[in-house]
Amino acid sequence: MGFRVLNYQKMHNKKTKEDKMNIDEILKKDKIRVLAVESSCDETAISIVENGREILSNVIATQIEIHKRFGGVVPEVASRNHIMAISSVYEKALADANLTIDDVDVIAVTYGAGLVGALLVGVEFAKALAYATKKPLVGVSHIRGHIAANYLSHKELKPPFMCLMVSGGHSAIILVEDYLKHTLVGTTVDDAAGEAFDKVARVLGLPYPGGPVVDKLAKEGNANINFVPKGILKGTLNFSFSGVKTAVINYVHKKTQNNEEICKEDVCASFQKCVVDELVNKTVEAAKKYGVDKIVVAGGVGANSELKAKMKELCEQNNITHYSPILSLCTDNAAMIASHGYYMFR
Ligand code: KG4
Ligand code: ZN
Repeated sequence: MGFRVLNYQKMHNKKTKEDKMNIDEILKKDKIRVLAVESSCDETAISIVENGREILSNVIATQIEIHKRFGGVVPEVASRNHIMAISSVYEKALADANLTIDDVDVIAVTYGAGLVGALLVGVEFAKALAYATKKPLVGVSHIRGHIAANYLSHKELKPPFMCLMVSGGHSAIILVEDYLKHTLVGTTVDDAAGEAFDKVARVLGLPYPGGPVVDKLAKEGNANINFVPKGILKGTLNFSFSGVKTAVINYVHKKTQNNEEICKEDVCASFQKCVVDELVNKTVEAAKKYGVDKIVVAGGVGANSELKAKMKELCEQNNITHYSPILSLCTDNAAMIASHGYYMFR
């Protein structure tokens, strides 16, 4: 999947005068409509967004129920289900926006990061669509898409800002200097935050995906167990979540072996506090270090209620404005891909 920003002409290695005119014509328009395809994990999603900010339709066919019984996403099963869903998701995206494909200017698609087989379904669909309709095609990074979800939720938001990107596969602090200029200032050295939530939920016998369940149970518990591992990284903007995850697993196994009762609520509250403190403290530290006065949260773990509350509190104390996308745009969707695709196309 070795392409970054391509259009159908470049993919076939010939760019005609007519193709160049097409792109120039689109750039002159007041309203540029991007249709985006997202299939990197277990959601088949297609959305149409105008000028990178206005959602005209946002269709998501989730496979969560299918993967639940396996306790996580099974890549091959995900790919097959994308194939089965993608055409009807496409038709619904156009119908919901009350548009035909002729009203769309640009096609965008997630090219990575994600499950290769799953990505391939979306990429092939988007390439075929762009080729058949002679529309430019833009390949979008899933991670950059998550950041762009905030442009859809907050119309006034513009770079520069510091972004905490926390999903099932990634945890990073990114300095967003401009729409397309992103610099990594901190990352996880082992597990992603969402991955740790999912694994902790699994060891507690809670359903997949673990994050929302842990979040819910944590509200009813007390953070009275010390899971802060010795390995927690100090003096760096990088994260490590493998230590805290192992601390929880060891705690649960020990209690089980001794036939002692486990208070799942307290385990969730203690684990969550440990992870949230680490994420929020380091992001605020990064914003101060780089002199930016806005923090943006992106990715599925951004839906976490304690993370939102703690980020709000610490940002207020430090005169930093804080943004996170509305709940439905935190997790995987294609509207965020269309938004970033628009800025790439421009
Ligand atoms: O961004 P996303 O939908 O998919 C990826 O690109 O990975 O993120 C999914 C991750 C899962 O690990 C899920 O457990 C986590 O986000 N998540 C949460 C919450 N809601 C979803 N983690 C903590 N608290 C939540 N409320
Ligand atoms: Zn994601």
